[in-house]
Amino acid sequence: MVERIERLITEIGAIKAVNLDEVEQLRLKYLSKKGLVSVLFDEFKTVPAEIKREVGQKLNGLKTSALQKIEQLKAEFEHEDNAGFAGGDLTRPSLKPLGARHPISVVRKQIIDIFARIGFTVAVGPEIEDDWHNFSALNFTPDHPARDMQDTFFIATNPDILLRTHTSSVQIRTMESSQPPIRMIFPGRVFRNEAISARAHCIFHQVEGLYIDKNVSFADLKQTLMYFAKEMFGENTEIRLRPSYFPFTEPSGEMDVSCNICGGAGCNICKYTGWVEILGCGMVDPNALENSGISSREYTGFAFGMGIERITMLKYQIKDLRLFFENDVRFLRQFTGAM
Ligand code: DAH
Repeated sequence: MVERIERLITEIGAIKAVNLDEVEQLRLKYLSKKGLVSVLFDEFKTVPAEIKREVGQKLNGLKTSALQKIEQLKAEFEHEDNAGFAGGDLTRPSLKPLGARHPISVVRKQIIDIFARIGFTVAVGPEIEDDWHNFSALNFTPDHPARDMQDTFFIATNPDILLRTHTSSVQIRTMESSQPPIRMIFPGRVFRNEAISARAHCIFHQVEGLYIDKNVSFADLKQTLMYFAKEMFGENTEIRLRPSYFPFTEPSGEMDVSCNICGGAGCNICKYTGWVEILGCGMVDPNALENSGISSREYTGFAFGMGIERITMLKYQIKDLRLFFENDVRFLRQFTGAM
């Protein structure tokens, strides 16, 4: 019997397996109830008393080495299964992107980066505003018809507190708290009581720009916006400025860019005009400067405001504004990888 035990010890010492299934087969062969090692334990009962001690020790040695060998083989393959994890670099970025950035965030970042390259820094203001910052300081007199045009959401019954209808409110807050030179952009969410459709929503996003210093002229505004349009829509983009009206700028304009879909030839996106409107702008009205504590004799400046949804729709040819708010993963997944 001792001989058989020793032969088994040698045999088990040499066994090999190529995968976890084989290891399990080997475990059954040696260690299951009817396995080769277990059978020897059954026979042990019949071993004569005088050699029981010697045989018993050998047998226990066999069982231990069989258990160890099986564990060792198992560990090899379990380790292999997790090789990418256990042996890998835990700080390495995931190979597959987890989720995607929302297109509005993608374009907001592009706008911020474009203006950062010419020295504009970023600030934000509150979404719940008072009448002063959203209207009065921006030169909307109490009975100004433009107030009606903004479809304001008021908070409860207090006509002084409202959800801001534009990010122009942050211009005022910035001018109140700092002196020129000011070269900043203000991204943020705005709210208007509009019926929801493919072209309008009650929540949307704007980026406001403000540049105040000595001797700032309309030419500076035009150059800045031309630079922005070419960076955002491509080198061949052209701009045109049309006269417009806003209470807080004088003169005021609206800027169109040449349609980036048809290159100006005319298509349904630009309604066959070759141009699409993307922002409002102008020279900051002296009243808005004075209302915020900045001398209009010493300083001049320009401002502009654009809708992020509109720019995103043009850039990615998205035809329905509601897609931005529905969080349909089939829409959002198309932006996987966009930064
Ligand atoms: N606040 C305007 C709007 O929401 C956009 C705008 C127009 C902003 C002209 C400006 C500007 O700064 O100068 O319609």
